[in-house]
Amino acid sequence: MVQINAVTTLEVKDGIAVIAVNNPPVNALSHPVREGLFTAITQALADDSVHGIVLGCEGRTFVAGADITEFGKPFKQPGLHEVIDALEASPKPIVAAIFGTALGGGLELALGCHFRVASADARVGLPEVKLGILPGAGGTQRLPRLVGPEKAVAMIVAGTPVTAKIALADGIIDEIVADPIPGAVAFVQKVLAEQKPLVKVRDREDKILATRENPAAFEAAAKAALKKLAGVEAPAACAQSVRNSFSLPFDEGMKAERELFMQLISGEQSLAQRHIFFSEREAAKVPDMPAGVKPASLKKAVVIGGGTMGGGIAMCFANAGVPVTIVETTDEFLQKGLDRIKSTYAVSVERGALKQDAMDKRVALIAGTTDWNVIADTDIVIEAVFEEMALKKEIFAKLDKIAKPGTLLASNTSTLDVDAIAAATSRPGDVVGMHFFSPANVMKLLEIVRGEKSSFPSIATAVAAGKLLGKIPVVAGNCDGFIGNRMLHRRGTECERLLLEGAAPQDVDAVILKFGFPMGAFAMGDLAGLDVGWRIRKHRGTKAPVTDALCELGRYGQKTGKGYYIYENGSRTPTPDPEVTKLAAEKAEALGVKRRNITEQEILERMTYPMINEAAKILDEGIAVRASDIDVVWAYGYGWPVWRGGPCFYADLIGAKAICDALEHYAELTGDAGLKPAKLLLDLAASGGKFADIGVTKKAAA
Ligand code: CAA
Repeated sequence: MVQINAVTTLEVKDGIAVIAVNNPPVNALSHPVREGLFTAITQALADDSVHGIVLGCEGRTFVAGADITEFGKPFKQPGLHEVIDALEASPKPIVAAIFGTALGGGLELALGCHFRVASADARVGLPEVKLGILPGAGGTQRLPRLVGPEKAVAMIVAGTPVTAKIALADGIIDEIVADPIPGAVAFVQKVLAEQKPLVKVRDREDKILATRENPAAFEAAAKAALKKLAGVEAPAACAQSVRNSFSLPFDEGMKAERELFMQLISGEQSLAQRHIFFSEREAAKVPDMPAGVKPASLKKAVVIGGGTMGGGIAMCFANAGVPVTIVETTDEFLQKGLDRIKSTYAVSVERGALKQDAMDKRVALIAGTTDWNVIADTDIVIEAVFEEMALKKEIFAKLDKIAKPGTLLASNTSTLDVDAIAAATSRPGDVVGMHFFSPANVMKLLEIVRGEKSSFPSIATAVAAGKLLGKIPVVAGNCDGFIGNRMLHRRGTECERLLLEGAAPQDVDAVILKFGFPMGAFAMGDLAGLDVGWRIRKHRGTKAPVTDALCELGRYGQKTGKGYYIYENGSRTPTPDPEVTKLAAEKAEALGVKRRNITEQEILERMTYPMINEAAKILDEGIAVRASDIDVVWAYGYGWPVWRGGPCFYADLIGAKAICDALEHYAELTGDAGLKPAKLLLDLAASGGKFADIGVTKKAAA
């Protein structure tokens, strides 16, 4: 075996050259990999004893894409294009040996080979759109030539990888093999023995001819793929580039792909999406976690409470293959909870998103009981009852008596003091908050709330549990509302004020939707139920004049058919209601608030800047360890558009100075000193600094 460079080897045996990349963790195509591949291919082609070539990888996966950390840095030759051109021009057959994930540039590399084999559990795809770019090394030109432009546009715009089975059926791969490299060697030997013709993917026309003649089916597929993606640049560029695959000659299609790629990669949207990609992976890292702390293994789980949240959390465990038991107070509540879970799964089966046997397996993993003794034999308990401190304390005192030592005791609280809950036990070290977002079986975010006494193994286990459940865990400190809801509260206050000052719910929501959120703030309030906040306000002695008045009228939102909007005949579509504007005007008059026309710009600022201000406080207090954690919370828990990178990323684009000036103005306008710029934001404004430069906060690391 010849070591070509630190990350590439070449081994020639019985006339077959095996080139292997070894660049942990995911064999990304960093410069040394491209250089090693280019040299290895050149050597294999020059070696007369080599008749066929296999391109494979060591480690846990085939090449998972370009090295994203190199984006934006000076480019070094050879590029991926040169490597792929060298593969494609080879007169000797080349077979890619795929396993793990062949993604982005990894799949593009494989598409430059004459043939591709893959292990049964491999997945292949072009997920570049998720990074705000398009496949820039021929993916948009070669994939359509294998699967047809209609399937290609759906796959590239969604960016979702497909299984080896689908890849085989669609013609992306040629065979499923038991062992990638030996399988690929056997395949290349067969190609040589049978003297199979070496057709380059770029020369294949059979799958694009019909579309070239009549692109109607393609246009329909592109339209379907792009639905709901208005304002996002990369998906439209992906579709255009796939369109070029049949409307332009190959080389011109490649040139256009390159140009689109260069445009996207230098744009703000891609920068934002790459920021979220890395932030998401950073968020689960706990800076002060001592080396060697291992999470406990989670083989059994218990969820206290079978309501909407508890049921959703139980589904998360079942989906991950972990047996889970729901504990309820009565058989009736239990049955109701279990029935709700079944009907939620049944909807997925009806929609074709889940197979019946998969549903049966998941349902079989969910048990229910009213007997608390089940807690004695579990690795993790997640309490998901009403948001009421006295009740939570009572439950945790009970858990403390029954659970075995070391069981992780988690509360799915969304605002309450985790330290107070932990204090109800004799083992506060085992207690954490695990704040799921509704619907718990769907939403990706999991806020893990670290109490003052939460032990490192407990935090590590909670993070591992989040990953096991397919969530994106973000570790937060303990305060009212943690990261997400504390900021949401700020937005809520401004929403209420805007109503009084003259904006209608639909005016505010239109701005939020235009910004890229999937839902407006008022529509979200109606969905969640206005009575929830009303009760909390009554308890705390605070007021929201317009919303309180709506609640007094029994307008709780979607569930009562009326809230900030009207929902006729059970519809979920909000219809603006002039009565709300009238009511707001009356309240404004009573309170002496002058109503005026409010510009879109002001609405946008008031929907974002107070939240950014709160983010600065959260960071300064060490509640969030990094600014990027706050961005992850908002992107995955509240629908902040990923292509806008989260509140702190957005703030950096605007600049702290402009935000501080606007906040000063709004503090004066509203008379709310709480809107005055936070110290950290003022410091950033004074130094011209950015949230991105702060790194791990000192307080959090202390
Ligand atoms: N470049 C650089 N680093 C990468 C990377 C990439 N393409 N993909 C993953 N990593 C890093 C992660 O940041 C992470 O680093 P840390 O351990 O330091 O946090 C590490 O590799 C492991 O990643 P995950 O934690 O995500 O591991 P996983 O096993 O859960 O998932 C994966 C593996 C499915 C490959 C996932 O990492 C992934 O989806 N990666 C991105 C794939 C992708 O988007 N490829 C396209 C790149 S763009 C491109 O190729 C453009 C082109 O056309 C040329």
